[in-house]
Amino acid sequence: MPSALPLTLDDTNLITALANTIWHKHYRSIISTEQIEYMLNQRYHPTLIREQILSHNIWWKKLVLNKKIIGFSCCVITDHPKELKLDKLYLHPHHQGKGYGAILVDDIKQFMHHHAFEKLILTVNKKNTSAIAAYLHYGFKKNNDIVTDIGNGFVMDDYLMTMTIK
Ligand SMILES: CC(C)(COP(=O)(O)OP(=O)(O)OC[C@H]1O[C@@H](n2cnc3c(N)ncnc32)[C@H](O)[C@@H]1OP(=O)(O)O)[C@@H](O)C(=O)NCCC(=O)NCCS
Repeated sequence: MPSALPLTLDDTNLITALANTIWHKHYRSIISTEQIEYMLNQRYHPTLIREQILSHNIWWKKLVLNKKIIGFSCCVITDHPKELKLDKLYLHPHHQGKGYGAILVDDIKQFMHHHAFEKLILTVNKKNTSAIAAYLHYGFKKNNDIVTDIGNGFVMDDYLMTMTIK
């Protein structure tokens, strides 16, 4: 079984490459190639990931199987007390649908217990039906719509989903 481990500064180029593979495959039927490229550049530049690893309010984890990184998660503290945002949850296409996403979500729940967080939120594209199904399975509830202007004429048309951690 894969293990969830902290991301290190040496992993950042691998994460950028992995995100590129996953996003181009998964989002090509959901958003335009131009938007995929724009968002990858905004979120997955190795320098940005390195800065985030060193910051105190963002936590990256990698999912490792047979010494290879097959997925990752990233959580961010929000402005609301005891609330954490699951900002990224991604698995390589060959490793989706095997229950591995649940390993990363369980790891986040443990982290929340240790640090007294009570609410986990995320946003997911309304057309990302497989991810929405997985999130419902993990115990998230679908809340309101959130449409965000991300610049360059692009918007994110998402659902907000939330889960309370007891
Ligand atoms: C979303 C993601 C992280 C889920 O992880 P996963 O390991 O593939 O999902 P799991 O195997 O843990 O599935 C959990 C449950 O979700 C549901 N599910 C998963 N994929 C599904 C699909 N394609 N269709 C319907 N239900 C699905 C199932 O109910 C499954 O329950 P089961 O184990 O009883 O069958 C992963 O599929 C992924 O990386 N997807 C592409 C990127 C993405 O969209 N990330 C989220 C961005 S917001």
